[in-house]
Amino acid sequence: MSTLKRTWKVNGQTVPIRAPAGRRLLDVLRDDLGLVGTKESCGEGECGACTVIVDNEPVVSCLIPAGQLPDGTAILTIEGIEKTRIGRLIQRAFLECGAVQCGFCIPGMVVSSYALLVKNPRPSTPAIREGLAGNLCRCTGYTKIIQAVKLAAARLPKRK
Ligand code: FES
Ligand code: FES
Repeated sequence: MSTLKRTWKVNGQTVPIRAPAGRRLLDVLRDDLGLVGTKESCGEGECGACTVIVDNEPVVSCLIPAGQLPDGTAILTIEGIEKTRIGRLIQRAFLECGAVQCGFCIPGMVVSSYALLVKNPRPSTPAIREGLAGNLCRCTGYTKIIQAVKLAAARLPKRK
């Protein structure tokens, strides 16, 4: 089997990638790079647990063949997001609002919330629902998750 050779920017670091051709982005992140904050649940693109940001867009990493991503691709995972100010605000708001139960969906929820707030720092409830539409949660019923995203948004510094 041929070997995939790439150089990506993962959470701000330049990282050489060597993997069997056809490997999923999710497996490269979790198994090759040890970034296990990204979760696998359905493995079919339905639940959003594996969401990461690729070149500024949230994507489900279980459906992306790593070979589709060229050299220079910028990937942000939950490990990178939790080091950002917006990421920390989101995580704190999830905890304060009681938006976390089993927690399995939460990394993907935080990643999608981050992608939303970067583009729209004052999202309406429908905009939050739309931003998180690809992320399923079996536990919380979503109300507290939406409250948490609103709380994080309210704490974002105002743009000048
Ligand atoms: S594990 Fe990727 S969408 Fe469910
Ligand atoms: S908190 Fe359990 S699936 Fe969302």
